[in-house]
Amino acid sequence: MRGTRVEIRLAALRNNALRAAELAGDAQVFAMVKANGYGHGLLLAAETMLDSVSGLGVAVLDEARTLREHGIALPILVAEGFFDAEELEAAARLSLEVVVHSLWQVELLLANPCPVRIWLKVNAGMNRLGLRPNEALSAAARLSQAGNAPVGVMSHFACADMDEDIHSEKQLLLARSVAEQLQLPLSASNSAALLRYPRAHAQRVRPGIMLYGSSPFNWQTAAELGLQVSHRFSARLIAINAVEAGESVGYGATWTASDPRQIGVVAVGYGDGYPRHAPSGTPVAVNGVVTTLVGRVSMDMITIDVTGLSASVGDEVELWGDVVDVDDVARACGTISYELFCQITQRPERTIV
Ligand SMILES: Cc1ncc(COP(=O)(O)O)c(C=O)c1O
Repeated sequence: MRGTRVEIRLAALRNNALRAAELAGDAQVFAMVKANGYGHGLLLAAETMLDSVSGLGVAVLDEARTLREHGIALPILVAEGFFDAEELEAAARLSLEVVVHSLWQVELLLANPCPVRIWLKVNAGMNRLGLRPNEALSAAARLSQAGNAPVGVMSHFACADMDEDIHSEKQLLLARSVAEQLQLPLSASNSAALLRYPRAHAQRVRPGIMLYGSSPFNWQTAAELGLQVSHRFSARLIAINAVEAGESVGYGATWTASDPRQIGVVAVGYGDGYPRHAPSGTPVAVNGVVTTLVGRVSMDMITIDVTGLSASVGDEVELWGDVVDVDDVARACGTISYELFCQITQRPERTIV
């Protein structure tokens, strides 16, 4: 057995969902399970958390359809809404809540009246999806006249996870003012805002990454936030080689030994979803002891420094999980845990614990 595997921990998902519910207080928790449950498995994540939350959030209709086909009856919010009349009709049939984020969707809805629950998305400063507050008010009026009144107002924070966050307060005020004018519930908070801004919880929160055991902040770890590791990625040592001072390792000879080193070859690469841009120095752990990646990541292998460690061929190397924090790996790679989780390929074995 090659031994490259991802372990998904259901108890941790449950713990993290309960933690979100505890923080949310009276607000509904809609667990974001889009993008294959942040790489954990769409159904697995949904089924594991459904007793602890009020609803689920996906990005696209097909994800919601899969959940319904597997008997999940909880309310489901489709964050990108519908793309055409056919999807609109399917959303109604599947009893989904759809986000209306653009004027073309308002027109499509008016041209194809459909009994679907609409959350109107307000652009409060993210400037990605969403209607400007005035557009949202007039769209709501037109939809109401056509018998398709929105049931909620939604917005998304651009900077709630940032150390110096000068945007969220303004965004919250804008989104809240639209919700109040329309006398509708508001949903604005992602994980960062749920953890950090109780005043932004409003009537519904939409946490994602915190459910998957990762911290949205670079100043607080997941463990410090009361979150448990739900995704552990590991592989095995398949060779250990001595290199002399001055010898380089791997493609492009990007790392050169300054003194004699023992180099472990680990059976994981970008073909498994380990990030190719992980630089020398990225942490890994051998038998529970932290060491570093050296040289370039290949498709099927990485090379690590095992000098002075008790390490043998066949030993386990943790890429992230219990000893190596996924957020540290993400930082070393200049990315976020979201991407690391999502980009694991089909090749590693999956173990559900
Ligand atoms: C619309 C929307 N709501 C909520 C979330 C959850 O965000 P996070 O994973 O940062 O908690 C996302 C994720 O990107 C999102 O796109």
